[in-house]
Amino acid sequence: MDKNKIARFDEILSAAKEAYQRAYAPYSNFHVGAAALTADGNIVNGCNVENASYGLTICAERNCINHAVVNGEQQFQVIIIYTEQDKLTPPCGACRQVIAEFFEQSAPVFAVNHKNEHKQWTVQQLLPDAFTPKDLLDL
Ligand code: THU
Repeated sequence: MDKNKIARFDEILSAAKEAYQRAYAPYSNFHVGAAALTADGNIVNGCNVENASYGLTICAERNCINHAVVNGEQQFQVIIIYTEQDKLTPPCGACRQVIAEFFEQSAPVFAVNHKNEHKQWTVQQLLPDAFTPKDLLDL
């Protein structure tokens, strides 16, 4: 879907930029912010949070989604991942799995950088044949 047709794109992007400013990434120095629009029309955000025990690092996308779940939201319309890298940052494999849990397969996922360049995918493109609750619960 065209970025200009995404409701409140600029507002979501601002929330992703705000989260970016709060990234805790002293080890990689790779700062990431993410923000999503929930089905209820709220905007939630998250940043990456690293740890001296490196494997405990949590990405911006998962912190964003988990932050929303804590606030009672479990459905999302769109997510934007913001970095200040020339290369646009796609979600890692773990984040793709978590996105697939809570977003429709057709939902758009955007990567945006400081030059306002962007790339977009659908959830389905990022993780085809995802293992989701319907596989587990036989719905
Ligand atoms: N990271 C994210 O926050 N999101 C991504 O989509 C890719 C990677 C973080 C994890 C780690 O703090 C740093 O970027 C380098 O991998």
